[in-house]
Amino acid sequence: MPIDDQLQQFETTWVPRLNAPLKAAIATDSGDARLAEAMSYSVLAGGKRLRPLLTVATLQTLGRSFDDQRDWRPVMALELLHTYSLIHDDLPAMDNDALRRGEPTNHMKFGAGMATLAGDGLLTLAFQWLTATDLPAATQVALTQALAVAAGPHGMVAGQAKDVQNEHVDLPMAKLRVLHREKTGALLHYAVQAGLILSEAPEAQWAPYLEFADAFGLAFQIYDDILDVVSTPAELGKATQKDAGEAKNTYPGKLGLAGANQALIATIQSGQAALAKVPASVDTTLLAAFFSYFDTKRVNA
Ligand code: IPE
Ligand code: IPE
Ligand code: MG
Ligand code: MG
Ligand code: MG
Repeated sequence: MPIDDQLQQFETTWVPRLNAPLKAAIATDSGDARLAEAMSYSVLAGGKRLRPLLTVATLQTLGRSFDDQRDWRPVMALELLHTYSLIHDDLPAMDNDALRRGEPTNHMKFGAGMATLAGDGLLTLAFQWLTATDLPAATQVALTQALAVAAGPHGMVAGQAKDVQNEHVDLPMAKLRVLHREKTGALLHYAVQAGLILSEAPEAQWAPYLEFADAFGLAFQIYDDILDVVSTPAELGKATQKDAGEAKNTYPGKLGLAGANQALIATIQSGQAALAKVPASVDTTLLAAFFSYFDTKRVNA
């Protein structure tokens, strides 16, 4: 299944707009040239930008367009944070990977010490970018709190901790679902939540959007685990066939490829059902189009 036309068009419009100011902004906010180079290297290596795209799509869905005049840094803060998580995930002491976004990993190019610091820099700069703007103070506080919860020891970092502790340990499905929701789902949850916060939509309206985000997040990691088995490094820009060798807990590892694909389809359906709960006056087709990222035909049933 090809990526939905609507998502394709949205990406074509927004990815260049979000990317253009990055390099200069990172250099401006860094006090060491080599550190800035290491940070920019991984951020600018590419990446689908799915998380900031989800934030902008949520804003648009709620009728708040994100125009050129608006400071884009609060939206791209999440991409800095996500990139930090990838740099650290690839370190020799973690997944020990040599390829990311089609380029040598940060530590292969800059050494493990500088790669650790590039990650630290991006993590911290993300919070600077959330708060160094003219957004109302209450909005800044809400974004800061939500990103800290999503990224920190109750979110992504908790999931990564479970991931590294449980190599060679066979987790039950319910625990694997929690691990995936934390390590990957939490940042995707925040991507949509940031759109809700920036749109100033009343919290009473948030639930179906966040339910959609959580389904998307779980589906995202199930699909990442499937791609690890069925894709090539040339397609993904990162190593494949890694998870089994490291005895990671994954959906294909536990359910087989066909079982993992069924779980993916069921998770997508639950996300679509969540969007169906949004009042009919709101057009949710753009958010629904994000599900076209998952090609459920990659695995033959
Ligand atoms: C990779 O995320 C890490 C996971 C959470 C599975 P992406 O697949 O979004 O990576 P980029 O940003 O496109 O490189
Ligand atoms: C998600 O898991 C990683 C993060 C939360 C950063 P993986 O370890 O499977 O991600 P990839 O496959 O290396 O991108
Ligand atoms: Mg990992
Ligand atoms: Mg990894
Ligand atoms: Mg993976």
